[in-house]
Amino acid sequence: MHEIIQTEDGSATFYVPELNEHYHSVHGAVQESLHIFIQAGIRYYLETHRPVFLPSIPLQILEAGFGTGLNAYLTLIEAEQQQQFISYHSLEKYPLPPEEIGHLNYASCVPFEKPELFAALHRSPWEQEIALTPYFRLYKQQQDFRDIGFEGQFDLVFFDAFNPDVQPHLWTAAVFERFRQALKPGGLLVTYCVKGLVKQALRQVGFTLKRLPGPPGKREMLRATAP
Ligand SMILES: C[S@@+](CC[C@H](N)C(=O)[O-])C[C@H]1O[C@@H](n2cnc3c(N)ncnc32)[C@H](O)[C@@H]1O
Repeated sequence: MHEIIQTEDGSATFYVPELNEHYHSVHGAVQESLHIFIQAGIRYYLETHRPVFLPSIPLQILEAGFGTGLNAYLTLIEAEQQQQFISYHSLEKYPLPPEEIGHLNYASCVPFEKPELFAALHRSPWEQEIALTPYFRLYKQQQDFRDIGFEGQFDLVFFDAFNPDVQPHLWTAAVFERFRQALKPGGLLVTYCVKGLVKQALRQVGFTLKRLPGPPGKREMLRATAP
């Protein structure tokens, strides 16, 4: 059982005692996710890679670590509010049990007219693509993301594994090579981590890196562009 924590913006996250690690920044889980994945990921991608507004062409997102479903929920909201079609494929090796999901307060602390969709994200079956709203399709896959074998089908990767200090085996060049292969040429990978070893591993497999200002409480984040 994880310990539930309230972060500085009022949104909840889990603490994992075995790793001494949180699912999100204690400075604000929702703020962090909005900053890194929605603003520096989705919005930046659409501005720079879709100069012509074509919302009916789905944005294809691959997430490493479904976890609490926070990134997926904020992406669903973004899809609805921008009326942009988004297909969201999320990989998770250790899905959280429903009783733990019930402790998360994202449905009440993120303004959105259909908060029941947070629970719907979690109720939706694994290994199956589901249209949760007119604009948002979700595919949750229970799988170790080190073993993926996608070929050039995604526009954006949300790389949201636990910190490399505690799980270094998830941040290697071999893992990033799989995600590079999953991306279309020029596709983007965004992550909160700017550690030297992570940057080195990403560069080794051909990504071009840009350090960006981080969310509250964190100096920087990283956006990597696939060759
Ligand atoms: C930092 S948490 C973030 C999760 C999520 N994005 C969120 O907003 O809650 C990292 C997640 O990666 C998952 N994970 C750890 N190792 C994994 C692996 N090898 N393959 C797939 N998922 C993994 C964990 O179970 C956890 O849910």
